[in-house]
Amino acid sequence: MSKILVSGGMGYIGSHTVVELFQAGYTPIIVDNLSNSNIKILDQIEKIIDTRPDFYEFDLCEEKKVEEFVKQHADISGIIHFAASKAVGESVEQPLKYYRNNIFSLVNLLQAYKGKPINFVFSSSCTVYGEPDTLPVSESAAIKTATSPYGNTKQIAEEILAETANASSNYQVIALRYFNPVGAHASALIGELPLGVPQNLLPYITQTAIGKREKITVFGGDYDTPDGTCIRDYIHVVDLAKAHVAAIRLLEKGNPNGNYDVFNIGTGIGYSVLEAIKAFEKGSGKPLNYAIGSRREGDVIKVWGDVQKANTELNWKAELGIAEMMTSAWAWEQYLNETGF
Ligand code: NAD
Ligand code: WQD
Repeated sequence: MSKILVSGGMGYIGSHTVVELFQAGYTPIIVDNLSNSNIKILDQIEKIIDTRPDFYEFDLCEEKKVEEFVKQHADISGIIHFAASKAVGESVEQPLKYYRNNIFSLVNLLQAYKGKPINFVFSSSCTVYGEPDTLPVSESAAIKTATSPYGNTKQIAEEILAETANASSNYQVIALRYFNPVGAHASALIGELPLGVPQNLLPYITQTAIGKREKITVFGGDYDTPDGTCIRDYIHVVDLAKAHVAAIRLLEKGNPNGNYDVFNIGTGIGYSVLEAIKAFEKGSGKPLNYAIGSRREGDVIKVWGDVQKANTELNWKAELGIAEMMTSAWAWEQYLNETGF
């Protein structure tokens, strides 16, 4: 069974991917410094897959520790690199934290594999497109000047990966540009665990519904969209996790597109903030206390993905819709509340 290093595997998307990898017959090995995750997630993963994955706690910015790990795990055939800091607002306030964490960790991993064949899947983001000129946005669309240091780290990381793959065919790389990951595992044993006040829509919705927050503000109701609110391509985290398994499979088979490739990972469908709120109310049966407020600086107005390439060449398609996204996110919030997790 192929061993896959899952960096950031204790985090939101990483933990779901560990489960899907295991269920697809891979042996996931987690490296995480727990800077944005909780050690209890390991128990939760174990409850789902009935096996405790190997877990190593260290910071991937520590070059020596990465080298040591790679020496001791010569049989790893693939890496899925989730580990990064991801709060857009914080990145504006502390840009160096983001350049350091997101770039050093990537460079250290690539460097440690110099001269060895490795399949590498990278967590990129639709943030690289900024406000797209045409919709749905495809992989060939222009990369816009990043509006945050976080977004810039994704653009720089893609360039580092493309150049590294270009220099050596030992590196077989796929960058996945995720749209907006939401929802939780069907077991409700793992899900998104935001530290502090959530920045993203879905955890803010579920925390409001459970009573942790008084109300949710819709950021802007006067945009040039059908209902005046921003539009996003929300993607269920379990579908997203499966896209990583598909990417590893394609790299193992040999990607006919060459050793650096990029895929959009979304549903291809855009929902407005108000549509997302209505879908949540329907799925949970709970009315949500919300109000239209002012615009949030830097928000993209509308973005959804052209996912044809992933459908045909990655042999992957999102299967879960907005209803499952909402009900699973709500089940997870209730689990957190009931268990005091
Ligand atoms: P997350 O914060 O839940 O998971 C990231 C994990 O990486 C955490 O467990 C954290 O402790 C760990 N980590 C961070 N820096 C580390 C380091 N230097 N060494 C070891 N471990 C480290 O985030 P997520 O939502 O699961 O996102 C995973 C990846 O996907 C990130 O690269 C993120 O930028 C990218 N992404 C996320 C979204 C989203 O909306 N969630 C969208 C697009 C792309
Ligand atoms: C979604 C929509 C908000 C909260 C961010 C990053 C991006 C990517 C995904 C990683 C927007 C609206 C939100 C609230 C609201 N991450 N909203 N009230 O902005 O698409 O992207 O996460 O790469 O880089 O920028 O996601 O969940 O923050 O917002 O009205 O309290 O919900 O304005 O329209 P976003 P989000």
